[in-house]
Amino acid sequence: MKGILLAGGTGSRLYPLTLVASKHLQAVYDKPMVYYPLTVLMAAGIRDICLITTPQDQARFQTLLGDGSAWGIRLEYRTQEKPTGIAEAFLIAESFIAGSPVALMLGDNIFFAGDAFPRAVRDFQGGATVFAYHVNDPERYGVVEFDEKGRAVSLEEKPAVPKSNFAVPGAYLYDPQVVEIARSLKPSARGELEITDVNKAYLAQGHLQVVRMSRGTVWLDAGTSSSLHEASSYVETIEKRQGMKLGCPEEAALRRGFLSLEAFEALVAAMPNCEYREYLSDLAAEVRRVGLTAA
Ligand code: DAU
Repeated sequence: MKGILLAGGTGSRLYPLTLVASKHLQAVYDKPMVYYPLTVLMAAGIRDICLITTPQDQARFQTLLGDGSAWGIRLEYRTQEKPTGIAEAFLIAESFIAGSPVALMLGDNIFFAGDAFPRAVRDFQGGATVFAYHVNDPERYGVVEFDEKGRAVSLEEKPAVPKSNFAVPGAYLYDPQVVEIARSLKPSARGELEITDVNKAYLAQGHLQVVRMSRGTVWLDAGTSSSLHEASSYVETIEKRQGMKLGCPEEAALRRGFLSLEAFEALVAAMPNCEYREYLSDLAAEVRRVGLTAA
């Protein structure tokens, strides 16, 4: 499966921070926001990834992430001129998708969902797979309604009166048909090609699978000043408690076998002295001692 990481948009809700750099390059505690969704893709074994940004931010992302080879992945860059909808990603990335199944991650969605995403990628058989996550404020999201048998029966984008508390987070899996579906969409009242309309098309065909994320999993979006601050505090709390980092692409590359231990050590040796390097070099030493343990 290939991956698309969508990191365009104006980031207007984070103004004035976003005057100088994309929302997705802002810090979530100790690393740039984009590291988190990228790590989710990598941890699911996805190493062929298209990163969509605004034209003005593309060079900064390239400075940060390069072509991905340092992490054993392949990054391809595309731009979106205007934020005219999440579903436009499939049209921008059509030649990248090239008939393959594809995972779409929104660049401001932060997941610590354990095995839910990798399992869905592993089990994917076609159609579309989306997730459902219980939230307090469903009206801010795409909302999925279930019947008494737990089957998804409707989807609505930001309904004034939500039919359930289950929001659809920004992580989606699609078969290659998604490109044709995206092409057939009309812009919504807010002028966007809506991802919810893509999911509705799969629902109407009977090919939409909705996986409920269990209550222990964490999904945060970091698109406003206070949610960005909350996401940072969450990451700080967990990292301090566990002594393990969240959203660390180098670690995911090592754990998934995208990098050999030797290549990983060379990568770490080239970093400046900092806490991030210390963490990764402790990890390398541990792997030398006891091999890769589950984490
Ligand atoms: O966070 C999950 C929600 O994301 C879903 O529940 C909704 O169904 C979906 O429509 C979307 O909701 P928002 O309207 O709040 O998304 P937002 O405009 O904040 O954009 C989400 C990310 O996608 C953000 O990182 C910017 C990027 N983006 C968005 C649009 C509309 C683009 O790169 N280009 C775009 O055209």
